[in-house]
Amino acid sequence: MQYSKKVLEHFTRPHNQGLIKNASGVGMVGNPVCGDLMKIYIKVKKDKQRGEVINKISFETLGCASAIATSSMITDLAKDKTLEEAMKITRQDVADALEGLPPIKMHCSNLADEALHEAIKDYQNKRK
Ligand code: FES
Repeated sequence: MQYSKKVLEHFTRPHNQGLIKNASGVGMVGNPVCGDLMKIYIKVKKDKQRGEVINKISFETLGCASAIATSSMITDLAKDKTLEEAMKITRQDVADALEGLPPIKMHCSNLADEALHEAIKDYQNKRK
C-alpha cells in the first residue's frame, strides 16, 4: 500500500496527541468494521470578534496508520478555527491535506471528521 509522505510524517510524529483535562467537548467514534477508536478533545475560547474558537485540540486514537495520521491532521486543520468553520471540515479536506489516502483507507479519515463534529456537538449540548 502506497502512503504519501505527509501520511507517514503524521503517523510517525503525530501532532497534538494526548488528552486535554477539563476539555470543553469530547467526541468519540468507532469504526464497526475494523474496531478502531478515535477520541477528539477540544477547548473552546470566546473571541470578541470571531465568536467561539477552538484554541486547543488533541486526540487519542487506537487504530491504523491512516487513523493516526488523519487524527493528527484534523487537529492541525481545526486549531484556531471557529466552531462553524470546524463543522465544515470534511473527510475529503483531511485526505487532501494529507496529499491523498489509498482508496481502501478513505473510511479511516471518516472517523476524524466525525469525531471532531461530535466533540463540537458535545460542547454545544453541555452549554444548553
Ligand atoms: Fe480502522 Fe483505519 S483500518 S480506521
